[in-house]
Amino acid sequence: MGGFLFEPQFATTHGVSVTLRKLMVSDLPTLCSQQQDPEANALAGVPARDRQAFIEHFTTNVLGNEAVIKRTIVEHGAIAGHILCFERDGRRELGYWLGRAFRGRGIGSTAVSAFLPLVGLRPLYGVVSPANVASIRVLQKCGFVCHKRDDNTETWRLD
Ligand SMILES: CC(C)(COP(=O)(O)OP(=O)(O)OC[C@H]1O[C@@H](n2cnc3c(N)ncnc32)[C@H](O)[C@@H]1OP(=O)(O)O)[C@@H](O)C(=O)NCCC(=O)NCCS
Repeated sequence: MGGFLFEPQFATTHGVSVTLRKLMVSDLPTLCSQQQDPEANALAGVPARDRQAFIEHFTTNVLGNEAVIKRTIVEHGAIAGHILCFERDGRRELGYWLGRAFRGRGIGSTAVSAFLPLVGLRPLYGVVSPANVASIRVLQKCGFVCHKRDDNTETWRLD
């Protein structure tokens, strides 16, 4: 992967400015705390990992896997969350997570729209819980269309 892809990306939409920069080991404690949020875990249908499991998972499967495209989302110098593109079951999926204090202000919309051009591969999929209205809306606003829906999961696709 070319080095230019690790230049920070700046984006301003929806009235907020974010930077997508290289995801670093030193970000992991913050990213870990952000994913330990019972309300968001329930809404997203994604269980929290304890600190050791989270650090191991990210170190091995995210930082340790060159095929995973990953960025830390920064707003005004603070780590707002992270965004990933990874392969699962032969498909490229997006994953993203913001700390509670950073939600509901347009950061998710801005970060996803800035990240998509970095991921040249299409189709891309987003797998979400039907209750996760904010996540579904982010995908919709970024051009994803609903590909498959069942009681527990919606799969959105960008061609
Ligand atoms: C999902 C997530 C990334 C969305 O990012 P965000 O910055 O909170 O969302 P935005 O502020 O960009 O809002 C996106 C849209 O959802 C709407 N929205 C935001 N929060 C909402 C909420 N709690 N309920 C309903 N709608 C909501 C916004 O109004 C906006 O729609 P609009 O542009 O039509 O007005 C973020 O909320 C998050 O990290 N949540 C916890 C983890 C998670 O669910 N990850 C995704 C797993 S699939």
